[in-house]
Amino acid sequence: MKKAPRVLIAFDTTGPSAPDQDFSEEFKTKDWQTEANVVNALKQLEYPYDLVGIYDDIELLIQKIKLFKPDIIFNLVEHFKGSAQHERDITAFLKLQGIPFTGCGPTGITLCKDKGLSKQILGYHRIRVPQFVILPYKKRIHRPKRLKFPVFIKPLSEEASCGISQSSFVENDVQFRERVEFIHNNLQVDVIAEEYIEGRELYVSIIGNKRLQVLPIRELKFLQVPEDEPKIATYKAKWDDEYRKKWGIRNQFAGSLPNGSAKKIEKVSKKIYQLLSIRGYARLDLRLNSQGELYFIEANPNPMLAAEEDFAQSAEKAGLDYPALIQKIISLADPLA
Ligand SMILES: Nc1ncnc2c1ncn2[C@@H]1O[C@H](COP(=O)(O)OP(=O)(O)O)[C@@H](O)[C@H]1O
Ligand SMILES: [Mg+2]
Repeated sequence: MKKAPRVLIAFDTTGPSAPDQDFSEEFKTKDWQTEANVVNALKQLEYPYDLVGIYDDIELLIQKIKLFKPDIIFNLVEHFKGSAQHERDITAFLKLQGIPFTGCGPTGITLCKDKGLSKQILGYHRIRVPQFVILPYKKRIHRPKRLKFPVFIKPLSEEASCGISQSSFVENDVQFRERVEFIHNNLQVDVIAEEYIEGRELYVSIIGNKRLQVLPIRELKFLQVPEDEPKIATYKAKWDDEYRKKWGIRNQFAGSLPNGSAKKIEKVSKKIYQLLSIRGYARLDLRLNSQGELYFIEANPNPMLAAEEDFAQSAEKAGLDYPALIQKIISLADPLA
């Protein structure tokens, strides 16, 4: 039998951490579910593992690599010094270590995290993307005439629905300016304004490097949101259980899709994954309108891996239970991702 790989799980912390800090209390809370689930899976797999929590000190990671001598780094780092902008820099650093690491590398993360750049690339390759305009922080706010209302306004490169609420949906120039200014002033980031795509919200999980497997499609349902209200995955719709209950917001497996759509979605999703240089595993956010047209909204390389999240749910439905999923992600670890 092949020797079990030594796995170093790297993740980010909300403040400075010590080299051998005990995270067992944190791991009992909701915010740390992914880390806790991955640790459990490694225990079940009987892989030797160690942990390193990183805030702003890369030296901790270097030390741990020297001491533990991992065969693989399980990369769960999404922030450095509290900033998501550094997610790709961590992967670039891992790449320089020459040790295989799980998930996507710096190129894929760079292309996906910029919601304008990813759409430019895909649009060039004739994949349907919403029309958009970028409104840089501290620059004049202007809506080009080609961008028709309703428009959806969001930060250019945040995630987890940060800065997204019902007022992200705007129907005239006054609302447009107000919302762009709000994001500029409160988050101090560039904004992307996109044509609003009315339709079903689909989440497509994919795993692989060269040979890709598309997992069963998930859908975000808005069962109690009134017909004429825009249905969007706002911050509250994702994270506030009370709010989700009140409006009947549920993540579930996609209901029946129009004839031929499933095949088309699978094909387009694989193409998107490749064009954006994604490696390891990712979840694509897509919208399917009533004419059966499929739009790309965004790609999430290294999506949340907690057992109850969409990605793991899709994997399970495809026959990969949680430890098998973690094992598969480890087997795809690549020093050149
Ligand atoms: N162009 C758009 N048309 C319709 N809905 C959108 C559009 N862009 C974003 N949304 C809605 O907002 C949600 C969050 O946007 P997304 O770009 O996925 O940001 P995040 O990275 O925060 O998940 C989407 O899941 C979708 O519900
Ligand atoms: Mg999203």
